[in-house]
Amino acid sequence: MSHTRILPADEAGIAQAAALIARGLPVAVPTETVYGLAGDATSGEAVAAIYAAKGRPSFNPLIAHVTDPDMAARIAILLPSALRLADRFWPGPLTMVLPAAARSPIASLATAGLPSVAVRMPAHPVMRALIAAIGRPLAAPSANASGSISATRAEHVARSLDGRIPLVLDAGPTAIGIESTIVAVGQDRLRLLRPGSVTAAMLEEAAGMPVDTADGGSIEAPGQMASHYAPSKPVRLGVAVAQAGDYHIGFGPVIGDASLSPSGDLAEAAARLFNLLHIADASDAPAIAIAPIPETGLGLAINDRLRRAAAPR
Ligand code: TXA
Ligand code: MG
Repeated sequence: MSHTRILPADEAGIAQAAALIARGLPVAVPTETVYGLAGDATSGEAVAAIYAAKGRPSFNPLIAHVTDPDMAARIAILLPSALRLADRFWPGPLTMVLPAAARSPIASLATAGLPSVAVRMPAHPVMRALIAAIGRPLAAPSANASGSISATRAEHVARSLDGRIPLVLDAGPTAIGIESTIVAVGQDRLRLLRPGSVTAAMLEEAAGMPVDTADGGSIEAPGQMASHYAPSKPVRLGVAVAQAGDYHIGFGPVIGDASLSPSGDLAEAAARLFNLLHIADASDAPAIAIAPIPETGLGLAINDRLRRAAAPR
């Protein structure tokens, strides 16, 4: 493929994106969390093209994005607890891992052959318009090369996947900035597979059942590898005072070369996280140092991403 076009996410752009997706080509589209690389979740060929563009191992399943709970119910079994969570958090940044429906049309390549399926009803109008245009669930992993920093702006996508996809729809920086919370929904308990802006406490309250957050080291969400979101240079965490050669990312009282949030606001920090990692990675500095982030609320999701960014590869 030659080079990747970026178009505004207006009516004409969405129509072009829908036409490409209908032909089985993956297109990068904004969601409220991060940009996703969307394709028809019911087409094995379209899903294979997503894996190929990302260089992603095909044992790592994809999230199926739906417009509404009825579309979700055609691909997954919505247990009562799932309905409560959908009621509270959909549309929005919550992905539920549910038992696949008996005659689910989702391509088995998208679920990596698992008996479960990850389902999310996004809030972003552009992603919603695309799903509606195709009339089927869209599989969409984050729109970045496998293992590298997620994309919160169209230019991040273009840098990571240039020449590998035909089109990026640009709707500006994403509002939330980190990927959806992933929860596995059981009859009487929930398991947090990936922390996000919907916190364990919020899930527990809405579902009226406990949330298991234990990270037993087993890879429950197959994509939750230790090394992920990885810049090309070493990353150190919890750094209040930088060393020579660091690009220092600040937070709160730690000023740094650029700050995630001078006022110490965790939502602002989440929204800026991946952009600052992209900037730090593109800088001349040989290393990246990041200020301490509190391990509470959204800080748990931010620190989860940072630990993977800093992990040995
Ligand atoms: O915010 C988001 O969730 C974004 C936007 C585009 O929607 N998408 C996203 O997709 O982050 P991805 O593929 O980068 O991360 C999805 C995670 C992977 O770690 C994958 O292993 C896990 O979801 N997953 C998918 N299906 C699963 C399943 N059946 N059981 C357990 N984990 C699953
Ligand atoms: Mg990802």
